[in-house]
Amino acid sequence: MKGSNIRGRVTEKTFYRFIIEVVEEYGGSGVSEIRFNSEPDIVFDFLDIKWLMPVKIGEDNKTIKDNFISYCRHRRESGINSGILLFLPKEARSISPEDETLRRFIRRKKVTALIDTELLQDGIRDTLPEIFEFIIEEMQKKTIKPYPLGLIINLLRQHIEDMMKEITLTESDILRIITNLDLFLGIGAEELLEKKKEESIRFLSSYIILSQLLFLRFYSEAHPEIMQGFTKPTKEQLRKIFERIKDINYRPIYEIDILDSIPEEYVSSAFELIQGLRIERQIYEIPGRLFHELMPKKIRKMLAAFYTRPQAAEILANLVIEKPNDIVFDPACGSGTILTSLYRRKRELFDGERNPHRQFCEEEIFGCDIMPFAVHLSGANLASLDVSETIDRTQIILGDSLKLSLGKALIPGIASIFLPTEEMAYKRTGEEYIVKPKEVDVIAMNPPFTKVERGIHKYIDMTRFKKNCGGEVGLWGHFIILAHEFLKERGLLGAILPINFLRGRESNKVREFIFSNYSPLFILKPTFNYGFTEWTEYRDIILVARKGKKKNYDVKFCLIRKDISKLSKEEIRDITEAIKVGKQHKFLDMRSFSCDEIKQHFCNLMWFCGISNFEHRDILIAFLEKFNLKKFPNGYFKEGFRPVPKGVSSFLFITRDNIR
Ligand SMILES: C[S@@+](CC[C@H](N)C(=O)[O-])C[C@H]1O[C@@H](n2cnc3c(N)ncnc32)[C@H](O)[C@@H]1O
Repeated sequence: MKGSNIRGRVTEKTFYRFIIEVVEEYGGSGVSEIRFNSEPDIVFDFLDIKWLMPVKIGEDNKTIKDNFISYCRHRRESGINSGILLFLPKEARSISPEDETLRRFIRRKKVTALIDTELLQDGIRDTLPEIFEFIIEEMQKKTIKPYPLGLIINLLRQHIEDMMKEITLTESDILRIITNLDLFLGIGAEELLEKKKEESIRFLSSYIILSQLLFLRFYSEAHPEIMQGFTKPTKEQLRKIFERIKDINYRPIYEIDILDSIPEEYVSSAFELIQGLRIERQIYEIPGRLFHELMPKKIRKMLAAFYTRPQAAEILANLVIEKPNDIVFDPACGSGTILTSLYRRKRELFDGERNPHRQFCEEEIFGCDIMPFAVHLSGANLASLDVSETIDRTQIILGDSLKLSLGKALIPGIASIFLPTEEMAYKRTGEEYIVKPKEVDVIAMNPPFTKVERGIHKYIDMTRFKKNCGGEVGLWGHFIILAHEFLKERGLLGAILPINFLRGRESNKVREFIFSNYSPLFILKPTFNYGFTEWTEYRDIILVARKGKKKNYDVKFCLIRKDISKLSKEEIRDITEAIKVGKQHKFLDMRSFSCDEIKQHFCNLMWFCGISNFEHRDILIAFLEKFNLKKFPNGYFKEGFRPVPKGVSSFLFITRDNIR
């Protein structure tokens, strides 16, 4: 066969000979083939271990995910514990089947490879020889390298999408899972009912099963005894384990039994996927970010579930947590993105000997959300940040934050209308218990931006704080006044707010409230992204302010000059440190302005940050000064060009108005 041309359709098998050539060149030996499903996998010895090498044409998430699951099964059954999964670009099917062309393709084209060994796991895209170079280099390090978070999320999201198609839910199933959709989803459910209720329920059900398997994986890694008697991921066996875990932890999550609505194949492949991805190696990063990350785009839009980008939550946490024992509260905690970041930051600063997990979760971290499912998730996410310790409760309250009050104290002036309510949280056993929110060192939040005209009064009372925040501002303004009530003197408020906080009439009262009761420290604006919150229709900023007014203070306006979603943990740490000490950083443009300057432009603070680069601001201000203007007169700018083609809008002509 060697040297001859292969005729006919190009399949995966057509490439085997040329792949094996590369394997052998890099020292692979004892090459053979082993059949598991349809196509045989290549098997070889390399670097003193045995490897399985499945080869597939196609690099889309579905192909990768399905074949990864199949590989995991094959790995278990064959007892061969390492693998390189190769995914060739689609064009492989249409190349001419001549030896030289095939050989060149395999050596020169970039392919996707998932590498799976005891220590090294990775997903890379490179040429096959480079992939082998990479493996040799990485394996020498002998350190654990988990799969990148992005890859894990893509494969899990794909599985959710596949599972959603197969879920069979009758009306009564839906009612069993979610007794009341309104309660389950909180506000917005009414509208949703008319739209795509079923699709959303399919997502939620798929997500629930996935999180049950996920928390099981986290938990069983620390407590392997929970898996006693478990041999295969069948529904029957999983149900038994779920029962067991429910008696120990995460009851609210495991209480929902939807195993019957999902075909066994999807449940067991979800189990294989989670196991194969060794998701526990990313346990510190995953909780708090999956719910939104796994939500298919159209569902996000439907549920209008705006979430905080995990990187924004990390930025916020780095800026507001000053001590490891800071008591923190997020009154709009959603699934816990900010709370888990606050936890991580507290833990980074903690240098004691003992494990602070229980103290953090049971005493120092408070959250509240109106959406029951979010509350359960927040609790489970916090609990799973350290599964070695079983906690009895978290302090995540289910309820309308705007009704919360400190302890039992009545609020002067409004007490007659609103008696403070004692809101419920859940113990790990699922029992309800009463939480009395107390004064905290830090409030960190991304409150709902919902506008008044959206009929929000139907669900939430907006009169309690109206006196202080005005009647026109969105819900977020009410949350600011609420936060004030819970924050200790000198405590830090960190909030993601609509950019309109900085300007205009609607937000004027809130702005005044902040600038007369706080010393604002930092105002961060993204320049690359629309906002720190994903999927909102509003631009937003991060405000960090210290409670208590100082006579003189400077506010640092900070422009973040990189795509927020691409910021690494280290970059976030460096940027936030730079902000705190007033140093520049390549992804940061920062200027300080005094409170006197701020007063002069109080009705529009965009004066300080309405640009993407402070040099642009200098040019505009120099221009105004030259002509002795305080601001550009009304009607000064006229639209001259439509921003088509792309890029045209990035220049600006300033001309005299006498050309007519
Ligand atoms: C922008 S989201 C915050 C998301 C959260 N930081 C996350 O990433 O998961 C706003 C949250 O406020 C909640 N919410 C809206 N009105 C509320 C109220 N009156 N009391 C408590 N939570 C409320 C919503 O359910 C939603 O989860």
